[in-house]
Amino acid sequence: ILAVKPQVMAALLDEVRPEVNPRKLFISIAAGFPLRRLEAGLGGQARVVRVMPNTPVLVGRGISVAVAGSKATPADLKQTLKLFKAVGEAVSITGEDLLDAVTAVSGSGPAFVYSFAEAVIEGGVRGGLPQPLAAQLAYATIGGAAAMLSESGLSPRELRDMVTSPGGTTLAGLGALDAHHFREALIAAVETATRRARELAAA
Ligand SMILES: NC(=O)c1ccc[n+]([C@@H]2O[C@H](COP(=O)([O-])OP(=O)(O)OC[C@H]3O[C@@H](n4cnc5c(N)ncnc54)[C@H](OP(=O)(O)O)[C@@H]3O)[C@@H](O)[C@H]2O)c1
Repeated sequence: ILAVKPQVMAALLDEVRPEVNPRKLFISIAAGFPLRRLEAGLGGQARVVRVMPNTPVLVGRGISVAVAGSKATPADLKQTLKLFKAVGEAVSITGEDLLDAVTAVSGSGPAFVYSFAEAVIEGGVRGGLPQPLAAQLAYATIGGAAAMLSESGLSPRELRDMVTSPGGTTLAGLGALDAHHFREALIAAVETATRRARELAAA
């Protein structure tokens, strides 16, 4: 598993190249370091899989996305998914170019959620809650809502409608989100992060 910073990868590949043989599978988690450069750096014959994990792997709740290189076999991809399922969910995709959007959604996504948490806590504190209680409520709410999203079989819109009654508090809060262009802000965050991932991959 190649897990050095992307800027160190070229030097590392030089070092590792003598170790390439038909029995070995190489997995890279370096962001923005394309398969063609990994394969070329390993001499052109190595079996390589590129994976984009995210930081919740630290608590066994990550999601990793794998793309097979030109010499990797279906068994290599299967083995890679098995490895990364030890630290969360793991899926494979075809089309390496999609990894830029993956990086934005699941790689950078936790930071967007942390910003959301920070703001919700601040709102709670302004409403008079002690900071630790506001934080506890926010973390449990994010965890609970995430579980509803993955386990209820309902869409985000359906779940939102379920907690929104006419003239109620949630509707009023959602109105404030709309007025402050919350949805557009998050779409822009994902799109901008995708563009940045593409720029870094091209650099
Ligand atoms: N954070 C994320 O969510 C995320 C998501 C996807 C991908 N990634 C990718 O994960 C990779 C690692 O990121 P990181 O934040 O964990 O970096 P990091 O903290 O700098 O860790 C890099 C590791 O590589 C080792 N290393 C450096 N040069 C080496 C060499 N020549 N030979 C062998 N080992 C060497 C370092 O060892 P020493 O400490 O002994 O120097 C260190 O353990 C990056 O490519 C990043 O793009 C991160």
